[in-house]
Amino acid sequence: MKIAATAEQVAAAQAYQDLHVPALFRQWASRVADAAGIQPGHRVLDVACGTGVLAREAARRAGDGGRVSGIDAGAGMLAVAERLDPVIDWREGMAESLPFDADSFDAVVSQFGLMFFQDRSAAIREMKRVLRNGGRVAVAVWESLENSEAYPAEVALLERLAGKRAADALRAPFVLGDRAELVTLFEDAGLVSVEVVTHHGRARFPSIRTMVEADLRGWLPVMGVDLNEELIEAILVEADAALGEFVTAEGTAEFDSPAHIVTGTKS
Ligand SMILES: C[S@@+](CC[C@H](N)C(=O)[O-])C[C@H]1O[C@@H](n2cnc3c(N)ncnc32)[C@H](O)[C@@H]1O
Repeated sequence: MKIAATAEQVAAAQAYQDLHVPALFRQWASRVADAAGIQPGHRVLDVACGTGVLAREAARRAGDGGRVSGIDAGAGMLAVAERLDPVIDWREGMAESLPFDADSFDAVVSQFGLMFFQDRSAAIREMKRVLRNGGRVAVAVWESLENSEAYPAEVALLERLAGKRAADALRAPFVLGDRAELVTLFEDAGLVSVEVVTHHGRARFPSIRTMVEADLRGWLPVMGVDLNEELIEAILVEADAALGEFVTAEGTAEFDSPAHIVTGTKS
């Protein structure tokens, strides 16, 4: 399907693909694909696929005999995904109402989208509905903020200089760190053999300034928080000192970024 997106949407998604995917997300695709047990010939769905890093990993594993679909709410993300791989079936749509028949996939995967869904229970029920009996769901979410590195210091910096709304926008990706809550969410959707495995991850950004600027100019507006230029500069001036312990000898920013991978089976 040809995806229609505005130039601004594509530019924002391309910035995400160029900075955030290599820094944070790419390393998780193979782990989520492993957890889902993707095999040659499988039909796989990637929910909240973004620019498609996990869908492309699934396509490599499913091979020529397989079939991969990626669905996301963001047209810009999908336009970039389509440029990177025109063969995968990219769809614009919501996780809470998947436009696919029941029992039509061998595996359903998703990484770092669940925390942003309006109705998480409905989304997990939908993942189960489209899965065949015996198929597996694998979903990655970030560990809690207090068990992550660097972001607690960045959240504190934002809280001090820009206020609670800005800080809360940066807290949002970390709200599903509670393992028991995740098990309940997946079991209540009717999945069985639900397991949560916590994995070590490592974030690598070109610099602290690049990382914080991307959050201020790229992420906060997505969450409805627009800061003025003066405030952005004031935060960037203090960011190096606030996050100095994560700067390497080469000047890059590196820190641990653990995540949970939740798996469940449709019986
Ligand atoms: C942090 S990105 C992760 C993207 C991708 N999975 C990756 O690893 O790069 C979160 C994605 O969730 C998508 N998203 C948020 N809410 C959604 C919903 N209700 N249905 C579908 N996609 C959604 C966003 O458009 C965004 O692309």
